[in-house]
Amino acid sequence: MVHKVKGAVVRSKGAPVTLETILVPDPGPGEALVDILTCGVCHTDLHYKQGAINDDFPFLLGHEATGVVSAVGPDVTQVAPGDRVVLNWRAVCGECRACAKGQPQYCFNTHNAAQKMTLEDGTELTAALGIGAFAEKTLVAAGQCTKVDPDADPAAVGLLGCGVMAGIGAAINTGNVKRGDSVAVIGCGGVGVAAVAGAALAGATTVIAVDIDPKKLERAKDLGATHTVDSSAVDPVETIRELTGGFGADVVIDAVGRPETYKQAFYARDLAGTVVLVGVPSPEMTLELPLLDVFGRGGSLKSSWYGDCLPSRDFPMLIDLYRQGKLDLDAFVTERITIDQIEEAFDKMHSGALLRSVVEL
Ligand SMILES: NC(=O)c1ccc[n+]([C@@H]2O[C@H](COP(=O)([O-])OP(=O)(O)OC[C@H]3O[C@@H](n4cnc5c(N)ncnc54)[C@H](O)[C@@H]3O)[C@@H](O)[C@H]2O)c1
Ligand SMILES: [Zn+2]
Ligand SMILES: [Zn+2]
Repeated sequence: MVHKVKGAVVRSKGAPVTLETILVPDPGPGEALVDILTCGVCHTDLHYKQGAINDDFPFLLGHEATGVVSAVGPDVTQVAPGDRVVLNWRAVCGECRACAKGQPQYCFNTHNAAQKMTLEDGTELTAALGIGAFAEKTLVAAGQCTKVDPDADPAAVGLLGCGVMAGIGAAINTGNVKRGDSVAVIGCGGVGVAAVAGAALAGATTVIAVDIDPKKLERAKDLGATHTVDSSAVDPVETIRELTGGFGADVVIDAVGRPETYKQAFYARDLAGTVVLVGVPSPEMTLELPLLDVFGRGGSLKSSWYGDCLPSRDFPMLIDLYRQGKLDLDAFVTERITIDQIEEAFDKMHSGALLRSVVEL
C-alpha cells in the first residue's frame, strides 16, 4: 500500500518550501514506516534548500524527529509497531572498514530506506539526511530508529536526532572534553549551545560561549557557559586567551563553519589543544593557514560528523540525563510551529531569536 501524506518539499535551488502530497510506500525488507510527531528545523535543512549540500532536488526536508513506528518490513526485529523512536542518520552497517575496525561512529556505509518516497507524479524525492521528516509519515531504514522512552517530550528528545547530538557529541565524543578542561564554543545556535551544554556536562570548569549575537549568548549562559564573548565587539582570540590565563582553551569548537571562525578556533586554543569543526562549510570556502603554525601549535584538528555519536549508545544515555534534570533539552525548544511555518522558521534563524523551532505534525 502507498500512503498519501503532506510533506515539506523544496523543488529547486533557493525555491520556497512548499507543502506537497507525497507518496510513502509500505516498508520493505530492513525498512520502517514512522508516523512523525515532531521535527526540529535545523540549519542543515536550510543548507539543503540553498543547494549547498548537493543538487539532488526535489528534497523532502526535516531530520530532527520523534515518531511512532507504524509498520516494519518482514525481517525487522530491532523495532516494532507502536515503538516511540528518535530518528537518526547513522544506521551503522556493521561491515564497512570503519565498522570492521570497531569504529562504528564513523560508519562509511550507513543505511537509508531502499525504496524512494515520491511526489504524486512519480518524481523521486531525496529525503534530507535520508530521513525526510517534515511529513506526516516517512520511510527509513529500521536502523535509523532508536527506541526511546515514550514519556519524554517528543519535541525535546527529537532534537537529539541531529543538532543537539552533534553539539553535545562535538564536546564529549570528538573533543573528548574532560573534568577541569577549558572549552570555547564559537557560534551559539542550536549546535553550539548544545556543545556548551556538553562541555558543562563533561565537567569543563571554564566554558566560553562566543557569538556575534548577544541574544544567543544569554541562552548559552543558561546552558552552562561560564563566560560569554561578543565577537562582533571584541577580538575573540585575545579574549579567550585572557580568560584562560593567557594561553587559550584546551578545546575550541567551531559551530559556525566559516574560514574566519575556524581561524579563530585555531588560534584561541592552547598549545597541543584540540580544534573541533562541527559547523558545515559551504563548497566555495577555502582555508589558508601558515603551515608552520599548524606544526608549531601541535595538538589535534578534528571534524565532528554528527558528534561522532552512536545513536544506540548516546540517545538513551542523554535522555536519562534529561529525565534526571542534568541536561536541559527543553531549553532548546524555543517555539512549536505547524508544518506551513517552516519558511518563517528559516527567516527567524537569521534574526537570532531562537535556538530551535519544532514542527508538531
Ligand atoms: N557536523 C554535524 O554533524 C552537524 C550537524 C548539524 C548541524 N551542523 C551544522 O552546524 C552549524 C550550526 O547549526 P545551527 O543549527 O546551530 O545553526 P544556527 O543558525 O542556529 O546557529 C549559528 C550561530 O552562529 C552564529 N554566527 C554566525 N556567524 C558567526 C561568526 N562569524 N562568529 C560567531 N558566531 C557566528 C549565529 O549568530 C548563530 O547563533 C551549521 O553549519 C549546521 O549545518 C553540523
Ligand atoms: Zn559501517
Ligand atoms: Zn540537522
